[in-house]
Amino acid sequence: MKFQGSDNYVATQDLMLAVNAAITLKRPLLVKGEPGTGKTMLAEEVAQSLGLPLLQWHIKSTTKAQQGLYEYDAVSRLRDSQLKDVDGGERVSDINNYIVKGVLWQAFTADQPVALLIDEIDKADIEFPNDLLREIDRMEFYCYETRELIRAKHRPVVFITSNNEKELPDAFLRRCFFHYIKFPDAETMKHIVGVHFPGLKQELLAAAMKTFYDVRNLPGLKKKPSTSELLDWLKLLVAEDIPLEALQSKDDKVAVPPLVGALLKNEQDVTLFEKLVFMQRNNR
Ligand SMILES: Nc1ncnc2c1ncn2[C@@H]1O[C@H](COP(=O)(O)OP(=O)(O)O)[C@@H](O)[C@H]1O
Ligand SMILES: [Mg+2]
Repeated sequence: MKFQGSDNYVATQDLMLAVNAAITLKRPLLVKGEPGTGKTMLAEEVAQSLGLPLLQWHIKSTTKAQQGLYEYDAVSRLRDSQLKDVDGGERVSDINNYIVKGVLWQAFTADQPVALLIDEIDKADIEFPNDLLREIDRMEFYCYETRELIRAKHRPVVFITSNNEKELPDAFLRRCFFHYIKFPDAETMKHIVGVHFPGLKQELLAAAMKTFYDVRNLPGLKKKPSTSELLDWLKLLVAEDIPLEALQSKDDKVAVPPLVGALLKNEQDVTLFEKLVFMQRNNR
């Protein structure tokens, strides 16, 4: 099993190395990076190119580790027991009918190797990663209700992503192979855009990229636009048929680029950007 990149996804050399290192070490790959730098998509693409089904677990602030293992649906069982006459009470007597399997259970008991994505682990509370240490390490857990040990038939290829909103515990980090997706440089970004918009005019791309990196480099920006925002913006520029001239600053005037709402997501950032444009205009 080796990941070599894919047609839809631009993977840098060091990212491919990291993916393959994690597979070799049989450790989860912990991918960090700004939102929109392709962390979730990486898991999808690796799974696809290795021919593995992908099980996804999207973490929220309320997600508990136990939900990834299983949950015991006592409420349904109680209700069924009250309606017992209907099916003779057969269903109620078997507790297995009320165990709701989580993604880890499904991944562990799948007949073929699978890929498992634990997406945005930093959304959960601080105990969450610690609660999964043993399961991730030993690839097994115990179901108390049915008194069975669920052990992985095949070790899944595990991806864990984080937007860096919270620090992760050391004991957890020790068990992962780590990779930080650096924000793509202009060259890599051109490849990424090329994947999404193969026929884009070079001049338009160059002008849009210049504006994009100018915006990103504005000091004091609250939320820097990332890859996905650039792609959104380009999509709009193409759809609205925005002429190249609208993006290029002429000698006598510099203008706020059209549809900047695709790049800047709060009013302070827009104001900051307008100020800069205004100052540039006055300096000429
Ligand atoms: N390396 C890349 N190659 C191709 N598309 C990319 C790449 N990085 C980001 N994208 C684009 O950006 C979008 C957002 O990526 P996503 O995986 O959701 O980011 P994250 O999970 O890091 O927030 C993707 O849907 C894809 O269109
Ligand atoms: Mg994501």
